[in-house]
Parts: sequence; C-alpha cells; structure tokens
Amino acid sequence: MEVDGIRYRSIWLAEDGWSVAIIDQTRLPHSFKVEKLTTADQAAQAISAMLVRGAPLIGATAAYGICLGLRQDASLAHLDRLGEQLIATRPTAINLRWAIRQMTDLLRPMPEADRLAAAYARAAAICDEDVAINSAIGDHGLTLIEKAWIAKGKTAAVNILTHCNAGWLATVDWGTALSPIYKAHNAGIPVHVWVDETRPRNQGAHLTAWELGQHGVDHTLIVDNAGGHLMQHGLVDLCITGTDRTTAAGDVCNKIGTYLKALAAHDNNVPFYVALPSPTIDWEIEDGIADIPIEIRDSREVDYVAGLLADGKPGEVRILPESSRSKNYAFDVTPARLVSGLITERGVCDASRSGLMRLFRDGI
Ligand code: MRU
Repeated sequence: MEVDGIRYRSIWLAEDGWSVAIIDQTRLPHSFKVEKLTTADQAAQAISAMLVRGAPLIGATAAYGICLGLRQDASLAHLDRLGEQLIATRPTAINLRWAIRQMTDLLRPMPEADRLAAAYARAAAICDEDVAINSAIGDHGLTLIEKAWIAKGKTAAVNILTHCNAGWLATVDWGTALSPIYKAHNAGIPVHVWVDETRPRNQGAHLTAWELGQHGVDHTLIVDNAGGHLMQHGLVDLCITGTDRTTAAGDVCNKIGTYLKALAAHDNNVPFYVALPSPTIDWEIEDGIADIPIEIRDSREVDYVAGLLADGKPGEVRILPESSRSKNYAFDVTPARLVSGLITERGVCDASRSGLMRLFRDGI
C-alpha cells in the first residue's frame, strides 16, 4: 500500500540485499520510521516488543530472522536454536509456528553450504505468497460488501466494524480484514469503517485509523465498548475482523475484545465475518477455548496510555492508581457458532470443520 504516495510493504529486504527493513509500528501514527534488522536477536526483539505485529507479519519476520541468524552460523544445531528463540517471542499467533516450520522443514535436510541462500529464497516466497493470499481474501470479501451495498439499495455507505489492526501493517501487504474494505473502496463502493480503538495498545486508533486515512477510506474511531450500542441502532451492516489462530473446527482467536463484538453482533443479527489466510489455521486443534495459548503481556500496557503529550512529543500517561494492579490478556476466542463465515483466499466458508475442509481438503 502507499504512504504519502510511496509504495511500501510492511517488511522487505534492504538495498544491501541481506538486512531486513521494517516499519517501526510502535511509533505510528505520529512518526513513520523504517528500522533495519541485522541479527536474529533483533528480529526476535522486534516481534516481542511489537515493532512488527499481526499474525502474518510476525511469521514473515521470523522467517527473515532465521536468515539473519544463519549468516552467523548455518549449522543444524544453530538452525534449531533459532527456531526455538523465534517461536518463544509470542505464543498465540500460529503463523509464527507455521513460518518457522516452513523454514526448518526445508533447511534441515540440506547441506550446510546451501542453507543461507535457500532460507532467503523461502522467506521472500513467504512474503510474496502472503501478498497474493491477502489480495484474494480481498476479492472474496468484496462480494460480501457488495451484497450489503445492494441490500441497502446502493443508497448509503456500507458500515463495517473492525477490531484491532488486520490491515496491511499486520500482514506483508493488503491485510486480511481490511483487504475487502480496500478492494470495495477501490471498486467505488462507498464504505465507512467503525474502528475500535483496541485497548490497551490501541492498534485501532494508532494503526487502523492511520492506514485507512492514508488510503482515503472514510472511518470513525470508537471506544471499545461502543460497538454493541451502534449495532442496536442499525449503524453496523457487518463486522470483519482478523484472527491469530483458527482451529480446525472454526473457532477464532483474535485481539482481546473480539468475542464481545461477536456476541453483540449475534444478538443484533449483524453478520460477523473473520478474514484469514490459510497459514492461520491450526489443523492440530479443535477447541479454541481449551487449546489456544492466550498471551498475557506486561501490565504496563494497561496501566499507561501512549500518545502525543501536550508538548507534541510522544510519551505515556499513567491511568491507574499506583496501589492498584492490572492484568493484560491480549487475545480471546470467539466460538465458531458466533462467526457468520470465514473469508479465506479460496473463498468464503462456514466456520466449521466441514466448511474449512471443503476449501482446504488438500491441506495448505
Ligand atoms: O497483538 P497484535 O497487534 O499482533 O494482534 C493482531 C491481531 O489481533 C490481528 O487482528 C490478527 O493478527 C489478524 S491480522 C491479519
């Protein structure tokens, strides 16, 4: 996508041909800064400190992290250590495990001398595949938005509620939940997006609002608790969110608060769609509530709110009494029964094992 008229992906190989460029997402929306990763340690740190975030992007960063680590030592033992280091960075998004397995399954049987070049080639392919997958998700999701527009007699914009950031910043390009929105906007369908602020890190306010603004998509920021009220008053035509891990039975795990939006949507007959690339499916588990590890992050993220201070400089403000404590659950699980459909690169399916199997019988 474009930033101030310049085309960007969220991760790319730098001009030197080996170091890895990323956008430091902790600085958005107030400053746009490109950082260079030169070691696996830096890649791991970028993932855990959320300079890069979003399930597909952390997978792509881990793939390049393995490349950077192999530059120092391409032995089998080191490859395994790199995999362990990178997988420990964040527990919930399955794309991380998927990307590391893609890399290690390919590289393990190879002669040591061939590993580095093969690693860079596979990491680049993972990025290119992600872009193609998300573009296809956009095409399939576009048909749902178009139907909603036709149902409104093409008289008014389609109101779409989204949570967190599942845009191009969360992937390599296009995004998952935002891809259909960009495609609809590009096709001339009027869309308006309700952007949940997404406490505690405010990915909605900081990232989704910024992305949509850069692309000229009409949007309004709302506090996390407003969605139910909007749905009761007919102000939401459909919800589209992303997911960090989707079970084989169609349960979806996404940013904390997604479940409450799905409940409100169900109560108000608002369609609730979840957009996902197939590497986000965890075929090894069925029950999301029982089996998906939920990341618990530093409670500092809850205790403080980050933004621009009165002097115009970025900073943090404490909102909790010093004597109180907080807990920072980062994700929740929405059971498949609350999901109207899964938007994948192969089409839209029921959130169920049979729905997923219909599209992905041959695996991914
Ligand atoms: O903690 P984050 O910012 O990495 O969480 C991201 C999300 O919850 C996204 O909705 C999810 O990764 C899907 S992104 C395509």
